[in-house]
Amino acid sequence: MDEQPLPHPGMSDPTYRSRRQHIADMSIGWRPGDPIPEVEYTDEENRVWVKIATALRLAHHLYAAREFLTGAENLDLPDDRVPQLAELCRRLDRLSGFRLRPVPGIVPMRTFYGSLADLTFMSTQYVRHPAAAPDPPEPDVIHEVVGHVSLLASPAFADLHYLAGRASRRCTTEASLQFLSRVFWFTLEFGVVEQDGDLRAYGAGLASSVAELERFRSAEIRPFDISRMGTLDHDVRRFQPVLFSVPSIDWLHHELGSFFETYGTESYEDTYAPALTTSPM
Ligand SMILES: [Fe+2]
Repeated sequence: MDEQPLPHPGMSDPTYRSRRQHIADMSIGWRPGDPIPEVEYTDEENRVWVKIATALRLAHHLYAAREFLTGAENLDLPDDRVPQLAELCRRLDRLSGFRLRPVPGIVPMRTFYGSLADLTFMSTQYVRHPAAAPDPPEPDVIHEVVGHVSLLASPAFADLHYLAGRASRRCTTEASLQFLSRVFWFTLEFGVVEQDGDLRAYGAGLASSVAELERFRSAEIRPFDISRMGTLDHDVRRFQPVLFSVPSIDWLHHELGSFFETYGTESYEDTYAPALTTSPM
């Protein structure tokens, strides 16, 4: 049976939409070198963070990969309030050299991936609607921080983000960028790894959703395959029905890193371009 897309309760709440727009507006016009705007989060926004971050912390110990947990420990996120991007940016700079750039919402693919090559991760600052927890239909500060910034606090994952950014700069067509983006989606957003005889999540999309963490083991699990990942569609509004697993994070770092390092060179695109026109199934 086809699953219905997840609802987006915030879109029908004018007070939420106005607050979210206010936070988004704070990052418009921001330039590198400017201080990252400090958001004065409301009590309700802090309560949403505490509720979700607490649930995620528990779920991570059950379902997240060791390397993700190490990154999260390195980051040491507060559990009583929404953290400011400025404080995380300073911490991350020391841990992996990555910096954070505030953005008002989803940015074009080429801009988002390209910034990774400059060791910069673009992050929203608004908090999901209270009724949307724990399954956001789009990125918010909880997804960015608990998911991606935790990964970026781990050197191997930070390196993969950087290499993905470099690869994106070599994409000369939208099709080749789309292929790269899908590989990113099925690895750094929704990747899983075999660990201690079980499947564990390492992708930021899984690690920032309690509901995804609780159900990913019942998804169809396929072995890591660049051609299949790069040509498989996904719907961001639904739970992910197909995931790709790797035998270890060291293996992922080597294999995915090698792909990112060579993707976009003529010979490599020749290797994968035929897959763009064949059935992904
Ligand atoms: Fe993401």
